[in-house]
Amino acid sequence: MKAVKKLVAGLGLTVALGLGATAAQASEGGCGTYKTVDGKEAHLACETAPVDLTNKASIQRGASLFMSYCAGCHSAQYVRYSKMYKDLDIPKELVEKYLMLTTDQVGDHINAGVDPELQKAWFGAQPPDLSLETRLRGNDWVYTYLLAFYEDPSRPWGANNIVLPNVAMPFVLHDMQMNTSKEEYRRNIGDIVNFMAWMAEPQAHQRKVYGFWVILFLLALLIPVYLLNKEFWKDVK
Ligand code: HEC
Repeated sequence: MKAVKKLVAGLGLTVALGLGATAAQASEGGCGTYKTVDGKEAHLACETAPVDLTNKASIQRGASLFMSYCAGCHSAQYVRYSKMYKDLDIPKELVEKYLMLTTDQVGDHINAGVDPELQKAWFGAQPPDLSLETRLRGNDWVYTYLLAFYEDPSRPWGANNIVLPNVAMPFVLHDMQMNTSKEEYRRNIGDIVNFMAWMAEPQAHQRKVYGFWVILFLLALLIPVYLLNKEFWKDVK
C-alpha cells in the first residue's frame, strides 16, 4: 500500500508543478506603463488573448490574416507552407493560391523576402521573425500589443503603441479598425494571435491529448501492478 501511496503522491506533485508553471508564465511581466491625464504613471494590465488551439477555424482565419497583414514585413522562418495545409486542414490549392504570397514552393518557410538592412533603414528597426514570438512574449502580451496602437502625428508613421512606446512598426491594422466593428476587429486580432500561438508550438494541442491517454494508461496499469506486488509478497511475510 505504501508504494501505491507514494505513486499517487508523485502523480499529484507532477500535476501541481505543471499547473504552477503555467500560472507563473501567465503572470510574468505586465504590458507596459502609460501616463494618466493627471500625469501619473499607470500600469497597463495585459488583456487575455482568446487562444484556443482546438479552434481550427480561428487558426485558419488567423493564417490568412497573418499572410495578408504581417508576412510582408515579418518572416516566420520555422513554419513551412506545407505544414500549414497538412496540420490546419487547408486545401493545398487554397494555400498555393491565397497564402503563399512570399514564394511558390510549398516546402519553403514563410519569409518576408525583403532585405533586413533595407527594412532597418525604412523603419529604424528590423521587424523580428515571428515564429516563436508568442513563446518569447506570451500570448497575452502579443494580443495586447496589437490592440494598443493609437494615432500619434509626432511619430514617423503617424502611430504609436502603449505597450511598446515609440514603436517602429506602422499601425498596419488601422484600415481594418476603421472598416470593422469593435467586436470583429478584436476577433480578427484574436485569430492572428491564435495562429501565432499554433505557429510557435504546433504540437502543443496534440501533446496534451497524448498526455491525457498516457496518464490514463499509467493509472490503469497501476491496478495489475499493485495486485501482482501483493501476490509476490504474500508468502514472504
Ligand atoms: C510595414 C512593416 C510591418 C508590418 C506589415 C507588420 N510589422 Fe510588426 N513590426 C515591424 C517593425 C519594424 C517592428 C519592430 C518594432 C520596434 O522594435 O520598435 C515590428 C514589431 C512587431 C512585434 C514586436 C516584437 C517584439 O517582441 O518586440 C510584434 C509582436 C509584431 N510586430 C507583430 C506583427 C503582426 C502580428 C503583424 C500583422 C498584423 C505585423 N507585425 C505587421 C514592422 C511591421
